[in-house]
Formats: sequence, structure tokens, C-alpha cells
Amino acid sequence: MHSLLAHLHARGLDGIPCVHGLDDEGREVLDYLPGDTLDPETTAPSDAALAAAAGWLRRFHDAVADFRPGAVAWRQGVQALGEGEIICHNDPGLYNWVVQGGEFAGMIDWDRAGPGRPLDDLAFLVWSGVPLLRPTPVADSVRRLQIAAEGYGGVSALDVVDAVDARMDLIAGRWRAGIERNDPGTLALRDSGAMDRHLSRVREFGDREVAIRSELARS
Ligand SMILES: Nc1ncnc2c1ncn2[C@@H]1O[C@H](COP(=O)(O)OP(=O)(O)O)[C@@H](O)[C@H]1O
Ligand SMILES: [Mg+2]
Repeated sequence: MHSLLAHLHARGLDGIPCVHGLDDEGREVLDYLPGDTLDPETTAPSDAALAAAAGWLRRFHDAVADFRPGAVAWRQGVQALGEGEIICHNDPGLYNWVVQGGEFAGMIDWDRAGPGRPLDDLAFLVWSGVPLLRPTPVADSVRRLQIAAEGYGGVSALDVVDAVDARMDLIAGRWRAGIERNDPGTLALRDSGAMDRHLSRVREFGDREVAIRSELARS
């Protein structure tokens, strides 16, 4: 994680905490990014902040493209970069955005970074940032999906919705695997009820998605 952040810093990526090594008690020391994180249950960033976050995600993906460390241990286990994969942030939910004066200012919480498809990161960013994880009017979802797709660039909003479906399947698959191998973190997530809550949200999104897709196809 430290070499990832150092690489991004060397590439001039904005909005990331720099690592300053360990203190004498062995604690990691990182920059404080001034601002606030957001609660996806109650808040939504402005259209401009959403566009800026998607634009930042693209700059991150461009900056990380030549960081190819081989098969090393990530939080998810030892993983090499697969075909079409880069090192993704993997958790770009609103609770990890830093917003200052309403403007997108950066992304924290890099410990889930690891190999993934770039669009999986964008999918998770819109899941939380549009938001898609709770019911909002279809017209708002459509408009803000388009804003995010344009902010990222080179993808359509429908591509992003496809990626959301794939990303949600990926999460469910990871959880099933985690439960099978008795991974303590996954079991704790299940026992806290967070897993059921998420899965029912995915089902509810599936209901809204039909209307969102047909609206996007018409525009
Ligand atoms: N670099 C940072 N700059 C500012 N605040 C931070 C930074 N890192 C963490 N925080 C604060 O600590 C909280 C938890 O940190 P985070 O790295 O997101 O851990 P967790 O895995 O618990 O979500 C964040 O929501 C934020 O309030
Ligand atoms: Mg966090």
C-alpha cells in the first residue's frame, strides 16, 4: 500500500494521503486530508462533486496503469494482475471521499486496494455516490449516472450500469467464498446484518434498474 501511494504521489496524483513511514510505536503516519467524509445513507454530493470524483478516479486509473507489482499479497489475498486489470481502490464509497466546502478533495482508506477492472471501481463509486444503493427518483439516477460517466470519460452510462451489476455479483461471490473459508471479517459482516442489508439493496436496485436502463437507452 505504501509503494502504491508513493507511486501515485510520484505520478502527481492529487487527493491522496502521502505516507510518512512509521512512528516509534510502529504506527503508520499519513497526511491528513482536510475536509469531511460523507454518509451515503443521508447525504449525496452535488452534481459537480460527483463529476469531480469520477474525473479524479480516471486520473487515478491513468496514474496507476504502470504500477504492476506482480503477484503480491493484498488484503484479499495473493493476487496477480489479470487481463485488463489495474490496481483499483476497491472501496471508493462516499464514506471514503473527502469533501471540502462541498467540493471533492480526495480519497482515503486505501487498504482494500488490489487488482480489479477499472470499471468495477467506477461502479462502486456510483453505487454510493449517485447514489444507487437507496431509492431516489429514476430521473435523478439517470442524470447522475450520465454525469459520472462523462466525468470518467470514454464510457456510457449504460456501460456503468452493466459494471454495477458485475460489481455487485463480484461482492456476493467474494462473500460466499469468505464464508466458505471461515474468514473472520466476512463472518462478522454477515453476523452484523450488513450483508443481508446490502443484498436486499441490490435486489431493490434490480427493480429500479429496469426503468433506469430504458430511460438511458432513450436518451
Ligand atoms: N488521510 C486522512 N485524512 C483525513 N481523515 C482521515 C484520513 N484517514 C482516515 N481519516 C478519518 O478516519 C476515518 C476512518 O478512516 P478509514 O481509513 O476510512 O478507515 P475505515 O477502514 O475504518 O473506514 C475516515 O472516515 C476519516 O474520518
Ligand atoms: Mg473508510
